[in-house]
Amino acid sequence: MADTRSSITNSFLSAFIITVTIWYTIQSSVENGFTVDYSNRFLATVPKNLPAQTMMLNLSQNTISELQLSDFRNLFKLQLLILSHNLIQELDFSIFQYNEDLEYLDLSHNNLSTLSCHLVASLQYLDLSYNNYTAMPICPEFGKMSKLEHLSLSARRIEKSDFSVLAHLQLDFLFLDLEDLSEYGKLPVFNTKSLWIALPKNREFSILLDLELSVIEHLELSNIQDKQVHDLKTFLSNLKKSGRLLNLTLNNAQCTWEDFTDILQNVWESTIEYFEVSNMGSLEAPNTIPFNYTETSLKALTIKQTTITTFRSDPKHMYTLFSEMNITALTISDAGLIHMLCPLKPTHFTYICFSNNSITDSIFKDCNNLTHLETLILQKNKLQLLTRVSWMTSLMKSLKVMDVSQNSLRYENSEKCHWGKNLINLNLSANRLSDSVFRCLPVNIQVLDLQKNQISSIPKDIIELSHLEELNLASNKLTDLPGCGQFRGLRLLNVERNSGFFQSSEFSQSCQNIKRLKAGHNPFTCSCELRQLINLEKQGFVKFVGWPESYVCSSPGVLEGTLLTDFHISEFVCSTTLQVVVFLMIALVLAAAVSFLCFRYDVPWYLKMIWQWTRVKHRVWKKKPEGMIDNVQFHVFISYSERDSDWVKNVLIPNLEKEDGSVRICQHERNFIAGKSIVENIIDCIEKSYKSIFVLSPNFVQSEWCHYELYFAHHRLFNENADGLILLLLESIPAYIIPARYHKLKALMAKRTYLEWPREKSKHGLFWANLKASINIKLPSSEVMEYL
Ligand SMILES: *[C@@H]1O[C@H](CO)[C@@H](O)[C@H](O)[C@H]1NC(C)=O
Repeated sequence: MADTRSSITNSFLSAFIITVTIWYTIQSSVENGFTVDYSNRFLATVPKNLPAQTMMLNLSQNTISELQLSDFRNLFKLQLLILSHNLIQELDFSIFQYNEDLEYLDLSHNNLSTLSCHLVASLQYLDLSYNNYTAMPICPEFGKMSKLEHLSLSARRIEKSDFSVLAHLQLDFLFLDLEDLSEYGKLPVFNTKSLWIALPKNREFSILLDLELSVIEHLELSNIQDKQVHDLKTFLSNLKKSGRLLNLTLNNAQCTWEDFTDILQNVWESTIEYFEVSNMGSLEAPNTIPFNYTETSLKALTIKQTTITTFRSDPKHMYTLFSEMNITALTISDAGLIHMLCPLKPTHFTYICFSNNSITDSIFKDCNNLTHLETLILQKNKLQLLTRVSWMTSLMKSLKVMDVSQNSLRYENSEKCHWGKNLINLNLSANRLSDSVFRCLPVNIQVLDLQKNQISSIPKDIIELSHLEELNLASNKLTDLPGCGQFRGLRLLNVERNSGFFQSSEFSQSCQNIKRLKAGHNPFTCSCELRQLINLEKQGFVKFVGWPESYVCSSPGVLEGTLLTDFHISEFVCSTTLQVVVFLMIALVLAAAVSFLCFRYDVPWYLKMIWQWTRVKHRVWKKKPEGMIDNVQFHVFISYSERDSDWVKNVLIPNLEKEDGSVRICQHERNFIAGKSIVENIIDCIEKSYKSIFVLSPNFVQSEWCHYELYFAHHRLFNENADGLILLLLESIPAYIIPARYHKLKALMAKRTYLEWPREKSKHGLFWANLKASINIKLPSSEVMEYL
């Protein structure tokens, strides 16, 4: 039962592979091919209204039980039709009469039991296997299908004449499922290059003894049961004499070790060049294994999914059987192999594959006789020390390709490695290697696969690998794109699925030769640093494999899920220099604008006036005037040059004096007491006034100042009480006008404690407010009345 299932699986598998191959061949040959896939949709009938331009139609894995002419009538362009794994019972080839391009028809795994013939001249591939046919479902019309290359059939009855209509057709491939054979006449002669027979479960039928291999080059037999093993041996020993069989595959056989070696010996002595056995169960090797290594045509031996055990024997004998086979290619995979011996004599092995076993580091230690070996595959074993593996290759002078992926390899920094000189392709994927592995690599390596390890960065101080062209670092722990400092020739880099944050400065600087970069499926941090990488893609010198769909931001949070193509960040945000420059420029422009506005609207003048005004107000508020005003009769004394009297009388006084006459002004013209000298009068006026206003102008300086010099020289009090003095600059006084002896005036002018009369009318309001504020005081009215 298990055999049957596995056989079905196998035939299905290879049918599937062929289907897929043809599917893609057709697909690639038809540029705008129209493909409709309705597989696995619980369909009970062929859907109506399929697009008329359909070229490829997949209806497999449904519950379709009937086919009608109308189903495919409109699909004039149909080339490929898959109807496998349905419940179809009847087949009438005339329903395809309108599908004149139909090349590929798969009706396997249905319930077909009837057949109505009609010529489908375009057919190249026809699969009717795993149906319910009693007799071989062969139409006379098949003989006219000159394009037919691939035919798969199953039946419960086979007769010598069955294939006579096909005798003149040269098929490439014929599959016969004879598992349920219940009536056996005689086996026909097959005109095909490849023949694959699933042998009958009923062991009475000695099909193999009737098998004639006239043109057959490739024979595959599955479901070989113990009785048939005997037939097989006879069949193979007959082969020795004649035949052109090159390729023999045995799948699913029930046999012992002895049967196996007998078969092997027969094959060894035949014309067969490629021999493959798979699914042979478990073979226990004995202690003595006679084998005659005579001349052989055999080039390649493959043993798969067959456990070879040596529980009761010395495994050395079993190893020797294989190691002494001086053939080109040896594959023993999935066989539980623990070890293999070094051949005793120099061999011609160019290819050895022991994948999926339990081989350890001691394999081929110091082995001098594998000097022609070019490819060594030890994938999925129990290798541990990379150093040992490297030393193993050191004597394999021709070794170019080695696959030691899926082991437990590790490397300690201090150990010395020694690799075969010609090793150029090394697969170290899925091991336990860390950054240090870069210190243990073959110097001439061209293709290096280090995916699925624990590499977090590439050390800088490693030897130069100038021939390295392809480096696969996918699924490691890289946090950054590596630079290419030590491998300048790198053309293809794969860093998918790392812990990537991917700043790329080092990468863009040192990896100029890279043509293809695979960096998708990384947790990209979409920030300024990433711009370089995105720009690199835009420039187009490097092809980013999987762009854009595999390149997605994972942080910051707001950008999570954004494609890198859609991530834009401005130059400004990322350049500090640019930011500083722009900030400085804005500041400069602002400063210029502010200064311009200030001077255009005289802001400094207004500020000065307001400052003076507040100071005056502050002073007034602080000093309680009561004590001070005892002998004061006037608010203000005004002194001015006669030449400025127009302005004083017409502008100053009217503006200071209030309507009600509450501001009293002492004018030396008006209030001078006769008999006193001018200076005495002036001093008298100053002393009786709360404030003194001097209207300064070049006239005043030249004509009047002398009157005050003496007073200023003798009254220190006035110096101390500078508050009482208000200098009002009516016209600016150039410094050279002031005579050198007027130190006091010079000092006062230098202090700039004067109020300047503004020319602009708009500023007059503030000027008067300021002036009035500084003379604002209440005088005792009785005294004043008395004085007047
Ligand atoms: C290395 O081996 C792994 C499987 O172990 C395979 O997927 C990968 O394609 C191989 N790499 C190369 C470069 O052949």
